[in-house]
Amino acid sequence: MTQRLLRGRLLTFHREPQNGEDTDAYTYLEDGALLIRDGIIQDTGPFPTISAKAGDVPVTDHRPHLMMAGFIDTHIHFPQVQVIASWGAQLLDWLNTYTFPEETRFASDGHSATMARAFYDQLIAHGTTTAVAYCSVHKTSADAFFTEATRRNMRMLGGKVLMDRNAPEALQDTPQTGYDDTKALIADWHGKGRNGYVITPRFAITSTPDQMAMAQALAQEHPDCHIQTHLSENKDEITFTKQLYPQARDYLDVYQSYGLLGRRTLLGHSIHLEPREIDALAETGAHPVFCPTSNLFLGSGLFDHAGLSARGIANGIATDVGAGTSYSMLQTLNEGYKILQLQGAVLHPLQAFHWATRGNACVLGLEDKIGTLAQGSEADVVVLNARSTPAMALRMDRVENLAQELFVLQMMGDDRAIEEVYVSGTPSKFAGPQPERAKVPA
Ligand code: GUN
Ligand code: ZN
Repeated sequence: MTQRLLRGRLLTFHREPQNGEDTDAYTYLEDGALLIRDGIIQDTGPFPTISAKAGDVPVTDHRPHLMMAGFIDTHIHFPQVQVIASWGAQLLDWLNTYTFPEETRFASDGHSATMARAFYDQLIAHGTTTAVAYCSVHKTSADAFFTEATRRNMRMLGGKVLMDRNAPEALQDTPQTGYDDTKALIADWHGKGRNGYVITPRFAITSTPDQMAMAQALAQEHPDCHIQTHLSENKDEITFTKQLYPQARDYLDVYQSYGLLGRRTLLGHSIHLEPREIDALAETGAHPVFCPTSNLFLGSGLFDHAGLSARGIANGIATDVGAGTSYSMLQTLNEGYKILQLQGAVLHPLQAFHWATRGNACVLGLEDKIGTLAQGSEADVVVLNARSTPAMALRMDRVENLAQELFVLQMMGDDRAIEEVYVSGTPSKFAGPQPERAKVPA
């Protein structure tokens, strides 16, 4: 039995705050404690109480820093770690020019394994303890993704993309091989340890109707798997999709007509939606995923979080690396705040931090396992330092309350603000070999 007691300022959410005054939505303790046993939060509360009950357990004191549930990223592309910051294109050109060529490299076991290590190092460095990822078309990329997640004991979701057209030959499967590889991956990984498989038709443009039918079969055979795809990110993408699926009432209807919409469905971007599509999202419980840095980077458009939320639709929020420009959920919330501002909506910092933790956990239906620091939850914890840079420290000298501190973290924070990350109760940010400093050529 491994036990440890974490001490620090503690923040955890019970539900989404309605506004800044909604203090019942969360617990905040100036001197809080988490008793962790075998990767699970065994007890939590004021430090003096928990420490007296716990007895002789090693204590790690993180005061004055803030302990929260680890961040959850609900849309990211594992094979795009070397695509991030590729210049000058919008979605379809960006895919063809930069992304597809890069993803062909994941046919190699060795490359996939090396990139998987780099990918998880980045997630942890930025305080992300769970992500929902697209792998490449190659089975080997998904094997590498889950092998490394298992080694680190991280709760990860992901799947190999199904794509059988409109991409380089080396990136195409067929309806049958896509189905067979997905079946094998589900058998090998889904529900093993903390892994979850996500059935992943990349998007309508890269899947034939035959492949969509195979995705439907997979979804019916594995109703406990999540499903992820992309929806209405870019106007040219929408036009092309409607040409490829002329029978569809709209873009979403491509997925709806193959039975792919439900509470376990994640729809990346969902920016340019028609009224019928919004009705269908509300009826089916499928989840749009807001990808702020990506939507700005590719010039895709402004996600209508307020409008969709008003219809009772629960949106995820995510980085979408490599079109997204940062692994940081803090930076994602920063750009998300600005996109809402451009539409006359505001995001309170308490709502923002709820979104990146419990909110995203709810979108995944995993709020009993991750996203909070409640007793019985898995011990994925991030420790935040709002004075991690000189500019932040200067601003913090004038900060008077928790909400203001959170907003400094949201607007100015990045991986430097992540003091420590616990994955299943194990300190993980500084666990591995430290990356070498960039060498300046002589
Ligand atoms: N649509 C289909 N594939 C992708 C992708 O890799 N990134 C983004 N942003 N959109 C997509
Ligand atoms: Zn994406």
